[in-house]
Amino acid sequence: TIPVIAVDGPSASGKGSVADRVAQQLGFHYLDSGAIYRLLAYAAQAQQVAWSDGPVLAQVAAEMHIQFEAGEIYLNGIAVSQHIRSEQMGKGASEVAVHPDVRKALLQTQKNFRQLPGLVADGRDMGSVVFPDARLKVFLTAGVETRAQRRFDQLIQRGEQADFNTILEDLKQRDLRDSQRTSAPLQQLPDALLVDTTHMTIAQAVAMILDAWKK
Ligand code: CDP
Repeated sequence: TIPVIAVDGPSASGKGSVADRVAQQLGFHYLDSGAIYRLLAYAAQAQQVAWSDGPVLAQVAAEMHIQFEAGEIYLNGIAVSQHIRSEQMGKGASEVAVHPDVRKALLQTQKNFRQLPGLVADGRDMGSVVFPDARLKVFLTAGVETRAQRRFDQLIQRGEQADFNTILEDLKQRDLRDSQRTSAPLQQLPDALLVDTTHMTIAQAVAMILDAWKK
């Protein structure tokens, strides 16, 4: 079977940067599953479908044509990565992600990324639902204040407006929504390697995962 490293964890824990670098080091493919939920939130908004309408969202999800290419993301042939990176689409993603029909509709899309020589997949349910047979499972986390600070810095760097307390409250809400939903909630699996990056650099987190992979 094709090897998979599943990296799950809460919002703004640094999963994206860490998982992407681990993939680069190993020459593996990389799946940013959160981007797929963001794409759905974006597609729904464009088609005036409410983020609360599970059954119709599942149809929209089934019709999406997604391509990841050289750092850009295409939805039905159009480059949209700028649009889906906003805080609003992050919120939309976490709302569309609660619907079981939506998660089911996106399952095969995600599984299709499993290609030779291997895959590093980041998200909330990579180890529990999408790739339960992953050879290595990682739970990547950090304290909520640290995550809020990282998200704040990221937005400022991008030249966007940001308010620390709003971001902090938003993260707490997203954590609740991710961990309390009935369908594929975020959880720390008993067989996952815990990587708490509160006092770690990205490079240290990457090294810890590569170390576990080689053992
Ligand atoms: O980390 P952040 O929440 O900013 O963004 P993301 O990783 O792009 O994911 C956006 C949202 O999609 C998350 O808040 C989750 O609610 C949801 N998601 C999910 O339910 N399952 C996944 N495998 C990935 C993301």
